[in-house]
Amino acid sequence: MTDRYAVVGNPISHTKSPLIHTAFARQTSQDLSYVALEAPLDGFAAKVDQFRAEGGRGLNVTVPFKMDAFNYANERMERARLAGAVNAIKFDGERVIADNFDGIGLVADIERNLGVPLKGARVLMLGAGGAVRGALLPFLERKPAELVIVNRTVSKATRLAEQFSTFGNLAATGYEALGEESFGRYDIIVNATSASLRGELPPIGAGAFAAGSLAYELAYGKGLTPFLKLAQQAGAERLADGVGMLVEQAAEAFVWWRGVRPDTKRVIAQLTVPLT
Ligand code: ATR
Repeated sequence: MTDRYAVVGNPISHTKSPLIHTAFARQTSQDLSYVALEAPLDGFAAKVDQFRAEGGRGLNVTVPFKMDAFNYANERMERARLAGAVNAIKFDGERVIADNFDGIGLVADIERNLGVPLKGARVLMLGAGGAVRGALLPFLERKPAELVIVNRTVSKATRLAEQFSTFGNLAATGYEALGEESFGRYDIIVNATSASLRGELPPIGAGAFAAGSLAYELAYGKGLTPFLKLAQQAGAERLADGVGMLVEQAAEAFVWWRGVRPDTKRVIAQLTVPLT
């Protein structure tokens, strides 16, 4: 029998997840269907109940339901607990098991696909919202030499740094405080703010990019965002957007659900929008 999976969000029309998982299923000869479901803003649980009642096996969860999914679950993996958000669910009888693969998807893309090791790297993370919260544990597990969270609202960055301090070397600051000592310092700068979604630029100076650095934009499919343009002008060696992270987090969920690992390279190539 065909096993049923879906992604739930609102709005959901833009989602690439059905395309990605259908490609994975074809590659690995898995008999499954994967569709996009839009839930009403106040109707996440009812939508999921219905999907389960119809035999659904697992879900991806996207904006704005990552907290609803956290609350819906009755078992949460450590990554999801620390992220305070859930992006994948597996149903197993009465068990509703929740995880969050966004952070390990980002790490996999940086290390495996882009070939940039996090171990020993000096990393600057822009933003202190849900995306950063999800990335901190997987990043710290890779043992970067330095991980600095910089945010417009400094208190949010400080709170995150305190919460994750037991997992590694982590600091928090504001953009104004990123002074001369930050010049040429960072090997990897990740824009995990929502600024690019509105065509805005986080107030970071061009000086922060080290020679040979990687500039990673979490948003995907937006071409050369203001952040990537700044990085390019600053001489960053590599520019990337979040398409690889998107496909890698999907692959982690697929392995979790199906027990087989798909090849991500071809799917990333298919979804890549040139950074021009
Ligand atoms: P997400 O869950 O996608 O991370 P979020 O929780 O709304 O989204 O967080 C958005 C992040 O982008 C925040 O860190 C926000 O900074 P504040 O905490 O100071 O609001 C950051 N952000 C949004 N627009 C920005 C801009 N123009 N410049 C700098 N940071 C910005």
